[in-house]
Amino acid sequence: MDIQKIFENNKTWISQKLSLDSAYFKKLSEGQNPDILYIGCSDSRVTAEELMGVEPGDVFVHRNIANMVPNTDLSAMTVINYAVTHLKVDHVVVCGHYYCGGVKAAMQSADLGILNPWLRNIRDVYRIHQAELDAIKDEEEKYRRLVELNVQEQCVNILKTADVQKAFVERGITVHGWVFDIHSGKLIDLKIDFRKILSGIREIYRLT
Ligand code: CO
Repeated sequence: MDIQKIFENNKTWISQKLSLDSAYFKKLSEGQNPDILYIGCSDSRVTAEELMGVEPGDVFVHRNIANMVPNTDLSAMTVINYAVTHLKVDHVVVCGHYYCGGVKAAMQSADLGILNPWLRNIRDVYRIHQAELDAIKDEEEKYRRLVELNVQEQCVNILKTADVQKAFVERGITVHGWVFDIHSGKLIDLKIDFRKILSGIREIYRLT
């Protein structure tokens, strides 16, 4: 890709926005008030705003390899804290995707250096759900299911944070698990019952 082309694209984008609303950037500069925190994969094929059809200002975004929420990851934890406590988002979304390279790598026996500790979090998801996953004989199907279970476990990690537990009690914040199917372009709601998960884990993980 020609890097210079990006600056040309940017000029075109500015004029498109201004032709619809001459105060567009003035309004953007006044501040943000997003309703949604989106945690997705860094995969170049899985965009945040574009696949949801939303605009700048609508969604606070965090992306990393395989849409993970490790409990000790300072980056993910500060994003959650800022979005939930300061921006007061109403929804937290974890969006995984089928054909995720990070999830695939965690299913294989290979030493990937610095990626090892990161991908170990996905191997932990496999261990927690080993009985279900081992029962799936078709490799592709198993891979898809691990993508879904990884989304579910990252939702659990979100529910373990004090910020989200507090926001649930105070204003009924909701947590959603989605999967983007690259093959069809469809966004699938896994319909994760986060209230049930929260009441199930509160005995051990309750912070507020
Ligand atoms: Co991915």
